[in-house]
Amino acid sequence: MTVSVRVDADRCAGHGRCFALEPDLFDCDDAGYPVLLHDTVPAELERAARDAAAGCPEGAISIGPAGARS
Ligand code: F3S
Repeated sequence: MTVSVRVDADRCAGHGRCFALEPDLFDCDDAGYPVLLHDTVPAELERAARDAAAGCPEGAISIGPAGARS
């Protein structure tokens, strides 16, 4: 299954674990908040996406089926 990753901007508190640990998936903006590098997660980065979601202290990162963005 192809997956996408999302960051809930309302929940993100700028902890920065996502872009520190998974720089292939996330960059950070000038304010220290994450910027997604892929709308659809490449297969080889799915594990990284799941690790990022599990590692966010705010639960701001979610993984879902690609094309199901809201
Ligand atoms: Fe925000 Fe969580 Fe990353 S709080 S900066 S999405 S680790």
